[in-house]
Amino acid sequence: MFRSHTCGELRLSHVGSTVTLSGWVAKVRLMGSMAFVDLRDRYGMTQLSFNEAYSAEMLAKAGELGREYVIQVTGSVAERESKNAGLTTGDIELVVESLVVLNQAKTPPFTIENDTDGGDDIRMQYRYLDLRRDPVRANLELRHHLAQKIRNYLSDQQFLEVETPVLIKSTPEGARDFVVPSRMNPGQWYALPQSPQTFKQLLMVSGFDRYFQIVKCFRDEDLRADRQPEFTQIDCEMSFVEREDILQMFEGLAKHLFSAVKGVEFDAFPRMTYADAMRLYGCDKPDIRFDMQFVELKSPEAERDLVSGKDFVVFDSVDSVIGICAKGAGNYTRKQLDGLTDFVKRPQIGAKGLVWCRIEADGSAKSSVDKFYDAEALKSWKEAFGAEAGDLILLLAGDLHKTRKQLNELRLLMGSELGLRDPFNYKPLWVLDFPLLEHDEESGRWHAMHHPFTSPLPQDIELMHSDPGAVRADAYDLVINGVEIGGGSIRIFDRALQSRMFDLLGFSKEEAQAQFGFLMNAFEYGAPPHGGLAFGFDRLCSLFGGSESIRDYIAFPKNNSGRDVMIDAPSAIDAKQLKELGF
Ligand code: AMO
Repeated sequence: MFRSHTCGELRLSHVGSTVTLSGWVAKVRLMGSMAFVDLRDRYGMTQLSFNEAYSAEMLAKAGELGREYVIQVTGSVAERESKNAGLTTGDIELVVESLVVLNQAKTPPFTIENDTDGGDDIRMQYRYLDLRRDPVRANLELRHHLAQKIRNYLSDQQFLEVETPVLIKSTPEGARDFVVPSRMNPGQWYALPQSPQTFKQLLMVSGFDRYFQIVKCFRDEDLRADRQPEFTQIDCEMSFVEREDILQMFEGLAKHLFSAVKGVEFDAFPRMTYADAMRLYGCDKPDIRFDMQFVELKSPEAERDLVSGKDFVVFDSVDSVIGICAKGAGNYTRKQLDGLTDFVKRPQIGAKGLVWCRIEADGSAKSSVDKFYDAEALKSWKEAFGAEAGDLILLLAGDLHKTRKQLNELRLLMGSELGLRDPFNYKPLWVLDFPLLEHDEESGRWHAMHHPFTSPLPQDIELMHSDPGAVRADAYDLVINGVEIGGGSIRIFDRALQSRMFDLLGFSKEEAQAQFGFLMNAFEYGAPPHGGLAFGFDRLCSLFGGSESIRDYIAFPKNNSGRDVMIDAPSAIDAKQLKELGF
């Protein structure tokens, strides 16, 4: 028997009993006639004590231990003289009577402690050591608990978990596919699924009615903190449902998880149309932990124009002047304001400049464009924003679409600077009625914003040919704290409508048949009305954990260049393998 207890288990009630522990040596403190060793395993840490008076032999052995040695010790549990309230086992220690070194260890390249001295790169290279650290392990524990709760919840709601293949044909979603050559079919390729979209729809045709899968998806896209090339979805589909049924079901799942794991309860999640999200926040995933909604002083959509005709060419020459009001930021110094200007002028943001207007203690306004706008004009701005003494109005000018995007970045920055983005203050939001299509300037073609199986809103079907850009999709995203946690749609289940959609997307009949024939054919054998959604499981975990990076919640993640530096992948393959594959 390697152990009778774990390193996180012993308490005062065990004092006097003889126990055996196994684990890793976290720390050795040699103090002449005494020594202390912290022994660690997944469950916690226990202090081992060695005393010359008790056993000189054991004390000598303790002196030979190195960090991360794997040892087994037997001894009696004793009450500690100086207790450690920070440790669950901090009331006791183990007085060691026998010690076996099960395995020696090289000195690790970084300290395996909560606050490690290891940089990102080295910890990724030695990920198996990083995973010994409490915070990293705790993240994976959280992931496990969430996965279990999700399975139980969906299972209780009659969802069946069905596995779908990983070697498939390219799926028509936004990103690039990862592809795998077929040895048995020279010159032909499988693609790894970007999502099981088409399979889950086929399962609905098969009558499965409620499907889910916690499933790996693969996308060859540029990586960011919330994107990995392989990531996990909680993928779901339901038959005989309308949008409302789906929103209720998955709002229910999200509420259940928040309640069970975080003890947070919610009323009904607020909802917002895509058009409002763009108008008020300049993005389709607004962070509504804080207000700071956009106000348009001038725009093609606004009925008023509070800026033109005052000889300020910048505002006269653009179609839109949009701003935010940062409550209480009126005390920003010149340097801070310059910092904001530099921020919006960065190439990634691309604004030409920033205009500010501060509301002074007496209610008057002072702006960076006082030369052009008198007190009366500034008062009209102040009223438009509902600004009060101590507030700071920030304005950007330009093309409507671009200005909204830029102002979104500035709003998020202000939210962070003013401490309004507490990661544990959860604010969910459904975003509804996305456009069905996006126009690609380069190719001059329409693209499906979500995917080609997404149904238009019934009342917009008529517009599909007359005004494709105005057609709204029966699609929805769940956004929490400005992160797109999940998205889905009601699907087209009518073959004729699906053909119209392919027409719009510029697929010839032959192309559509070659790429999606299997699905269109299946739809001829009795497809039920259906719809679904997928949550990004890694994003959900990081949201619950309070971190922005999903990497922290993936056992063996890739770095920003898509590399696994631990196993050194991707890598070259040998000539024989290549030849077999026909290269
Ligand atoms: P979508 O493409 O919106 O929808 O993906 C669903 C959710 O998956 C997460 N996600 C990612 N997470 C980490 N890294 C990535 N590279 C990544 N890409 C996406 C996001 C996103 O909301 N088949 C449809 C769903 C449906 O219509 O049912 C789909 O895949 O959280």
